[in-house]
Amino acid sequence: MSATAEHNPLAEGLRLRRRPDPCILVIFGASGDLTSKKLMPALYSLAYRGLLPEKFGIIGAARSEETDDGFRDRMKQAVQEHARDPFRDEVWEQLAGGMRYVTLDFADDKGEDLLRDKLNELDGELGTGGNRVYYFAVPPSAIGTLVAEIAERRASEGWIRLIIEKPFGHDLASAEALNTEIKQHFAENEVFRIDHYLGKETVQNMLALRFANGIFEPIWNRQFIDHVQITVAESIGIEGRAGYYEQAGAIRDIFQNHLLQLVAITAMEPPIDFTADSVRNEKVKVLKALHTPGPKHVVRGQYGPGFVEGEEVRGYREEDGVAPGSMTDTFVAAKLYVDNWRWADTPFYVRMGKRLARRETTIAIQFKRAPHPPFEDGAAEGLRPNVLLIHVQPNEGISLAIGAKVPGQGMTIRTVHMDFLYGGAFREGLPDAYERLILDAMLGDATLFTRSDEIEEQWALVDAIVAFWQRDRPSFPNYAAGTWGPAAADDLLHRDGRSWRRH
Ligand code: BG6
Repeated sequence: MSATAEHNPLAEGLRLRRRPDPCILVIFGASGDLTSKKLMPALYSLAYRGLLPEKFGIIGAARSEETDDGFRDRMKQAVQEHARDPFRDEVWEQLAGGMRYVTLDFADDKGEDLLRDKLNELDGELGTGGNRVYYFAVPPSAIGTLVAEIAERRASEGWIRLIIEKPFGHDLASAEALNTEIKQHFAENEVFRIDHYLGKETVQNMLALRFANGIFEPIWNRQFIDHVQITVAESIGIEGRAGYYEQAGAIRDIFQNHLLQLVAITAMEPPIDFTADSVRNEKVKVLKALHTPGPKHVVRGQYGPGFVEGEEVRGYREEDGVAPGSMTDTFVAAKLYVDNWRWADTPFYVRMGKRLARRETTIAIQFKRAPHPPFEDGAAEGLRPNVLLIHVQPNEGISLAIGAKVPGQGMTIRTVHMDFLYGGAFREGLPDAYERLILDAMLGDATLFTRSDEIEEQWALVDAIVAFWQRDRPSFPNYAAGTWGPAAADDLLHRDGRSWRRH
């Protein structure tokens, strides 16, 4: 099958359900990589499609000294380098016209007056009516003070939305403390905790696949599914982020958030509607029911030197800023169970890591074998069980492995694939996750953001795993860059008579 959507170009891409109210977006941490590589290119693409509010300003705030012009120049370059759309002067000029920069030390309130003045000045100039989106691209330790200061100003402002980047805390206790701090001043529907995987089209398509098609839901359970495999593989290393990564490791960087969200979306019950609370209620039930059967079922790894896509690369311990004896994990594999009626005894095998053989995020639903193949011995030797494979990235799409008769005399069966590729079915390129999420936050729609109880459940599982790790000291590095991780990750499945999907 190659699917072709009935084509109506106007129905594709991000569209305006309604135009967001006039507002100012304040980015704390505007000198960081996220702002130049993701946020500003996403804002440009929204502007390019006319999706931003008519009256809109941006204030970059960070510790480094920079002028308004310097900030605009740097952002222009970032857009030219990283945006998915062609650079058009008129789009940029419009966006840059409402851009300002404030030097702000997050630890004290010195820059606060400056920020307040710029906000008022822009409100006057643009007519943004005191509405604010505050984007926190800063470490969790800086968030509390900033939130308290914003709360002090709130009487003179319109609506306020807080977008908070990961990491949201370092463990359950710190995440709870942060939630408590925020809740002293803001209601849950004003807080948008980002997990950018939820902004990915293919992740949302999992919901469409499951809940817009009548054929999957009846077989989406332990009776028909043998197990699920989720892989978040990256070929890149830590890209100069040793300061952060040494503290986080793979378990906090990706497992705690992106990976567990993929598990939740795969395993959740159908929500009664697509509102923020209904969807998140169902996800939180999965996260509450999620556990790993024990330390033997979690594998951690760290990459040594090797070759990735033909290029020689350093080991993790040789990366700039990493301690030579570092015990930080760059790979995690685990067997998880969701303890409920739908999934009891159905393993969810998950793995994720840096410097693996290639970039690939997939969710593979492996169905049970046909109970009684009526064919002659040997006829179905080349047949594997049905697998529904969701390619989250790259080559976004879905593929279903089925058995088919090999043409010719007699009956020989082999596995073939029915493929749906986004690129083939839809003409509009996929929006970046940040475009969707920034727009949703401006509109006040929190469906694709993580609620406080979800994030706490995610941390609870991570804390349990990290507690196992206090007891042993694996010999790192234990996988070569450019491979699929440590041998122990293969054993995790072999012990159950299964293996990771072949690549
Ligand atoms: C981020 C992690 O959240 O996600 C990075 O901090 C990782 O380490 C990135 O590289 C992966 O995102 P994507 O969208 O490229 O899969």
